[in-house]
Amino acid sequence: MIKILLTGSNGFLGQHIAKLANANKHIHLTGWSGNRSIHDYCDDFQQVNLLSVDILAQMVEKFDVVIHTAALSQVDYCEAHRDEAFRVNLEVSRQLAEACRHSGTRLIHISSDFVFPGKDTLVTENDKTDPVNYYGRTKEMAELHVQNICRQSTIIRPVLIFGPTLAGTRSNLVLWVKKSLAAKQNINVTTDHFRTATYVTDLAAMTLQVAQIPNRGIYHACGADYLSVYEMALKIAEAFHLDQNLITPVHSSSFTAQAPRPACTNFSAEKASRDFGFKSRSFEEALSEMRLNKQ
Ligand SMILES: NC(=O)c1ccc[n+]([C@@H]2O[C@H](COP(=O)([O-])OP(=O)(O)OC[C@H]3O[C@@H](n4cnc5c(N)ncnc54)[C@H](OP(=O)(O)O)[C@@H]3O)[C@@H](O)[C@H]2O)c1
Repeated sequence: MIKILLTGSNGFLGQHIAKLANANKHIHLTGWSGNRSIHDYCDDFQQVNLLSVDILAQMVEKFDVVIHTAALSQVDYCEAHRDEAFRVNLEVSRQLAEACRHSGTRLIHISSDFVFPGKDTLVTENDKTDPVNYYGRTKEMAELHVQNICRQSTIIRPVLIFGPTLAGTRSNLVLWVKKSLAAKQNINVTTDHFRTATYVTDLAAMTLQVAQIPNRGIYHACGADYLSVYEMALKIAEAFHLDQNLITPVHSSSFTAQAPRPACTNFSAEKASRDFGFKSRSFEEALSEMRLNKQ
């Protein structure tokens, strides 16, 4: 039996990890989240505001692994609330790394592709980070702390996570496009931002795989296709038999976002595939699974 502590268990990714762990009789999962639990997938749950506790070794020592998904993940919110973003994304990660080092607990830290500046070339785990917004800066600094403090840590960098939400109302690109087109709403979608978007089901599976196969270092977890967000929207419309004519291609400069975004993330999951058997699915395959599951 492997004992796992999952932070952010109410979050988009956290819910999927909890659901998958729930189906595995060899995993006992304790969830922590800022609000009351919105699902029943955790074996144990504690409502923990990570900003109002000091995370100590005693709090994590009974676990074999901590999976740290909790974060302020809204890029514009982080730009406008830098102090809070610094405390949640960086300070909490640093405390967890310290606690894991002292207790000998393994740490799986979920980072982001936003640690990179967004060049249009294939980016490997060893490439130099240089974020373009404050969210990315907090994730970059958290990575450095985790690596320097806790030897028994693994960092996973996903890209634009998409898929069904299991509970609550959190959305993502696929659900937003689907919902808008189903309601016959016109949407503007950027043609100059490109991503190797990550299917949440695959990411959850990889994270639990990492929890069970000790390994250290940084891993990119992404989909197999490098597409513009506009191309993704067209594929979503096609997969769910919705009207592509409602999608207007626009340049990102027509949006008034508070924080700049990296233009491109072109990741390869080769290292994760080699070390953990991570299956990098095509965007269409993931959409087709969502359609078959009526999600
Ligand atoms: N979504 C993406 O496209 C994407 C892409 C790349 C990387 N990532 C990274 O992947 C990870 C998971 O992202 P996600 O989309 O699942 O995020 P999410 O849906 O926003 O969930 C974040 C979780 O963090 C918890 N949290 C935030 N502040 C907290 C606090 N002060 N105390 C306790 N819990 C707190 C929230 O708890 P409550 O809900 O209970 O308040 C929530 O469960 C994050 O580290 C994010 O940076 C995400």
